[in-house]
Amino acid sequence: MDKDALLELLDKARQAAQNAYAPYSGYKVGAALLDSLGKVHLGCNVENASYSLTNCAERTAIFKAVSEGVRDFQALAVWVDSDTIFPPCGACRQVISEFAPRIPVIFGNALRHEITDAATLLPSAFSLDK
Ligand code: THU
Repeated sequence: MDKDALLELLDKARQAAQNAYAPYSGYKVGAALLDSLGKVHLGCNVENASYSLTNCAERTAIFKAVSEGVRDFQALAVWVDSDTIFPPCGACRQVISEFAPRIPVIFGNALRHEITDAATLLPSAFSLDK
């Protein structure tokens, strides 16, 4: 996956962030997940007054795709509408690792981005396989 394709995916994540429901934190996050057939699955964070029920953008995108029968992925982009950028949280790293342990991951905002991969984000993912 070349850098231009990842930047294109990041732009889709930016668009997905527009649907974020983030009245509590104010952080609007979007995710764009590219599957092996070239389809992009979008997700955003969905917060709740009971804060811990919040679903992150990455998990929204992954769960949407898996619920539609898609389990093979090529790349993930995460956009945050903020001055600071952040990589996927620990819970999302575990979920990414379940379905796409080796995909490239780009995260960023309007000013900057970083490119990494799922195995770097979570080198010792929990697994039931010995
Ligand atoms: N958030 C995400 O959507 N993805 C992450 O990987 C980290 C955090 C959301 C959750 C919450 O709505 C807001 O960002 C602030 O934590």
